[in-house]
Amino acid sequence: MEITFAEKESSVKDTRAVLAALIPGKKETEVVRLASGRRVIEIGIEDPKNMTRRKLVLLARKVIHLARSHKAARVAVNLSDFAFAHLHMSEEDLGWLLATSWEMANFEFVKYKTAPEEGWPFIDEVVIVGKISAEAKKGFAAGGVVGEEVNKCRALANTPGGEMTPQILGEEARKVARGTKVKVTILGKKEIEKLKMGGVLGVSKGSAEEPRFIILEYWGSTKKEKPIVLVGKGVTFDTGGLNLKPSQHIYEMHMDMSGGAAVIHAIVAAARLGIKKNVVGLVPAVENMPSGSSYHPGDVLVSMSGKTIEVLDTDAEGRIILADALTYAKKYNPKLVVDVATLTGAAMVAVGQRASAIFTSDEKLEQLFRELGEESGDYVWPLPLWEEFEEEIKGTFGDVANVGKTRYGGAITAAVFLHQFIKKDSAAGSGQLFPWVHIDIAPRMTAVEGEHLAKGAAGAPVRLLVKLIEKF
Ligand code: BES
Ligand code: ZN
Ligand code: ZN
Repeated sequence: MEITFAEKESSVKDTRAVLAALIPGKKETEVVRLASGRRVIEIGIEDPKNMTRRKLVLLARKVIHLARSHKAARVAVNLSDFAFAHLHMSEEDLGWLLATSWEMANFEFVKYKTAPEEGWPFIDEVVIVGKISAEAKKGFAAGGVVGEEVNKCRALANTPGGEMTPQILGEEARKVARGTKVKVTILGKKEIEKLKMGGVLGVSKGSAEEPRFIILEYWGSTKKEKPIVLVGKGVTFDTGGLNLKPSQHIYEMHMDMSGGAAVIHAIVAAARLGIKKNVVGLVPAVENMPSGSSYHPGDVLVSMSGKTIEVLDTDAEGRIILADALTYAKKYNPKLVVDVATLTGAAMVAVGQRASAIFTSDEKLEQLFRELGEESGDYVWPLPLWEEFEEEIKGTFGDVANVGKTRYGGAITAAVFLHQFIKKDSAAGSGQLFPWVHIDIAPRMTAVEGEHLAKGAAGAPVRLLVKLIEKF
């Protein structure tokens, strides 16, 4: 989708173009045909005083959604329609919000569907009418890039498990980084063995597909500056392993690499935008399968950190591979580590499907992430990371158990498990190796009804990560 600028609406002449007009005081939406033959989609926005930033995201998407349903190829909009003084948004910010939202609404995963004769109803161009400042244009350009990367992340996550193995995920990372300043290194099984990543190796044992450890490095600043390390769960298919998932829960588990996909595309976005920061992405990639060679419930794995993991449930595999990735992150002496994972169904039970759950022991980081969530549209909500929960994941025959002792607080016990691999050893006190935030994106793995997003992967939290890289 292209975003272009025009002084006057009349310069948009195409018959497949529509004008989308936001009408205050009106409730419904209707399509009006002008004498000139031009179609105008009038979108009622009721009382403009009630507009919020969150509603604006949905409204922007609705514009594209409606234009697509009316088979338009171009949409003209007046920028002033979207400017609500009481929201105190800079023009750059408004441009960013509109561009990301429009791009996201213009995506659908059609790769495996036969195209209708008239072609897929996508918008080729949004023409923004009015006086547009350089500042606004800057926002539109950056937002367009971020929106594109969000959509590429969604396409990657939507790709069926049969066509998205750890090896292919690595190749995809290489492909999308081509032409950017992102350097991609892919470790194979032998190298993973050499690093003693017992977690990654253990989980991947049951699969005919070998594991990969994907490393993306973007040095946008001087090498002296400590990087932000982003860790993304890359389970290309999660059957649950020998603790096989019931059929209704196995559905959609090809998207269990959504965290990895988000990390890959956030870093590519940062590089495309030329953000002057250092960022490293780590994606442990495995397939979790039941077979004669699978890891067993009861197995004790020796993680890269040396800590042993007692596997009580082979379906709690994400935290096991992330443990090794978090240990590997230490090599970079990071200023911040953020891991992103479709980690627990319990997070969805806790917060619903409209926000990801975040965990950190640093109140300032928690506040920052909540703000970045509101700003980017990738909403997050905090859950506790209290030491009291450590009792629940004490191992009987290993140092840590990979599931809690009760059915309760599953998202929290998962986070507390990860925390064990970030904490300095107890003898040295309760400090951390580095500042850390864990984002459980299981709640946002797929889009929900009413968001004006296509069915399937939602692309969270690419927007938030890009904002983080920019601002941290
Ligand atoms: N990938 C799943 C979590 C998940 C569930 C993500 C639904 C997205 C949607 C994860 O590996 C898993 O299976 N977690 C278990 C943990 C349990 C065994 C302690 C879960 O949530 O049930
Ligand atoms: Zn699982
Ligand atoms: Zn999983």
